[in-house]
Amino acid sequence: MQITSFKQYEEDYKKSVENPEQFWGEVAQNFQWRKPWFKVLSWNFNEPNIKWFEGAKLNITENCLDRHLATNGDKPAIVWEPNNPEEESVTYTYKMLHERVCRFANVLKRNGAKKGDRICIYMPMVPELAIAVLACARIGAVHSVIFGGFSAKSIADRINDSQCKVVITADGSYRGNKQIPLKEVIDDALIGCPTVEKCIVLTHIRTPVSMLKGRDVWWEDEVKHVNDICEAEEMDAEDMLFILYTSGSTGKPKGVVHTCGGYMVYAGYTFSNVFNYQPGEVYFCTADIGWITGHSYIIYGPLSQGATSVLFEGIPTYPTPSRFWDIVEKHKVNTLYTAPTAIRSLMSYGEEPLKDKDLSSIRVLGSVGEPINEEAWHWFDEKIGRGKAPIVDTWWQTETGGIMISPIATVTPTKPSFATLPLPGIQPILVDENGNEIEGNGVMGNLCIKFPWPGMLRTTYGDHERCKQTYFSTYENLYFTGDGCLRDEDGYYRITGRVDDVLNVSGHRIGTAEVENAINMHAGVVESAVVGYPHDVKGQGIYAFVIYPEMHGEAELSKKDILQTVTRVIGAIAKPDKILFVSGLPKTRSGKIMRRILRKIAEGDTSNLGDTSTLLDPGIVEEIIEATKKL
Ligand code: WT7
Repeated sequence: MQITSFKQYEEDYKKSVENPEQFWGEVAQNFQWRKPWFKVLSWNFNEPNIKWFEGAKLNITENCLDRHLATNGDKPAIVWEPNNPEEESVTYTYKMLHERVCRFANVLKRNGAKKGDRICIYMPMVPELAIAVLACARIGAVHSVIFGGFSAKSIADRINDSQCKVVITADGSYRGNKQIPLKEVIDDALIGCPTVEKCIVLTHIRTPVSMLKGRDVWWEDEVKHVNDICEAEEMDAEDMLFILYTSGSTGKPKGVVHTCGGYMVYAGYTFSNVFNYQPGEVYFCTADIGWITGHSYIIYGPLSQGATSVLFEGIPTYPTPSRFWDIVEKHKVNTLYTAPTAIRSLMSYGEEPLKDKDLSSIRVLGSVGEPINEEAWHWFDEKIGRGKAPIVDTWWQTETGGIMISPIATVTPTKPSFATLPLPGIQPILVDENGNEIEGNGVMGNLCIKFPWPGMLRTTYGDHERCKQTYFSTYENLYFTGDGCLRDEDGYYRITGRVDDVLNVSGHRIGTAEVENAINMHAGVVESAVVGYPHDVKGQGIYAFVIYPEMHGEAELSKKDILQTVTRVIGAIAKPDKILFVSGLPKTRSGKIMRRILRKIAEGDTSNLGDTSTLLDPGIVEEIIEATKKL
């Protein structure tokens, strides 16, 4: 199923469009099914109702673990690199990983978890996180992984939205030289989570934790009470595999739902092709498993293909900005998949951290999460790839389950800052405001997808109408991505960024409405408006305009108070980079905030603010511009 020439890509692409069912039916033959499908695809984008591999039975963990045992049981599946480089790294072979997953699956059963139950996972980047995820899949429970940077309130909202029965966490996590008390955060969250019956706690940093009798149990104790034999639950191709919450243009994150069969096929197929993965190679994706990239390209994609996946607990700059390069050298990494924000951050340290580092193992480089600027692209290409490693700039989303538009390593000619061409099976189109297709090359528009692919979301948990409204109603019969896009003269795609009220801060997706809601929860704040602005390292920074008439003490302190509130409500990742106190916001007579104007002001471009005469109070714009000068 691996594409090895551009000609083959073109042929496969053509076939995938002309006969999608045959195409995906053949790809799916490369996976292990308990029972075959009777229909490859049935769909409509109106309801929406999408079914792939209908009637088929499988368990994704048999594809990620069991099927490799006979031939590749002793091959490394996960290589864990701890936060502290002085500590030993740990390798789990496929045999070991299989054993641990089965054992922990039995722990889940022992604690009352069954097929279909939702299980929240809030853990550090340790092998046990991958084990917990796979153990859920083994017994058919639905995992909902929550990124370790989210606050107790965010966790509680997510747990309650999907009525999780079990929580899996750890005492705490390391992040560089910081320690984060994960269990304490969970304890705060669980005060408001009546559906949670059990909490399984891994010892990791050995910080003191409170353990509630009857609810909380230690991972280490539990695994002693069970054996390592656990038959995989037989799942329907369209049974739920996991929920992953993501931000949109409203205040409330949505639980994106992925199902077993299609997701598995898509994650495995795209992993194998985009990275041109070769048996025996070491693959390192620096994302966190709390995001979709970690789900699809640390766990499910690589493991389904029998690959060796490096799992790194720490951060790129600890103990020094050489850390990634040390890991590449130490584990002889062949593929490095990271985010533009990490590249820009490491670039800023110059070449010193690269000195004497052996990066000769690198064969393929990948980028994901946000547009990569040309400067970062070239630095990555020259300094890390030594001009010899193709860069795959992979565009996709939580909702798409896997990579959609991207070069195929060693096959597709790349172009700096372009995600290049759609993968086989992906039919992108650009539309104008009214949903009319913009044909031809050298054009820009809103990026939509006009035909289903196996990895796409099926619904948003507990609220199908919301799924329909958000993705399938803006333009009839199209999946709308929320991204703007250029198709150049060569037909190559370049993603220009979100066209909705979603920010991308260091590759983290945050809704402006969510941040506004959090700021507005601060006592004394009357109203706020949040926009993004260009940020050298983060890609986008968060700029908040806040009406706070009776400030408590000095402005600087009040800003810190507001940051504290945002940290409590959402998490530190949503903290505004800039806060400007204003007496009013530019609003239309109907009361709508004119974000276009605020965005321009935040960008520092006040030369052409457009027509402000329709504003309720045009004077406010001048006042805000004056105030920004003092910030
Ligand atoms: C949004 C999705 C895909 C996994 C990580 C983020 C932006 C993603 C690229 C890229 C330009 C990109 C888009 C997209 N994005 N990859 N290669 N070039 N933009 O997943 O949190 O669901 O965010 O990230 O704006 O819509 P996510």
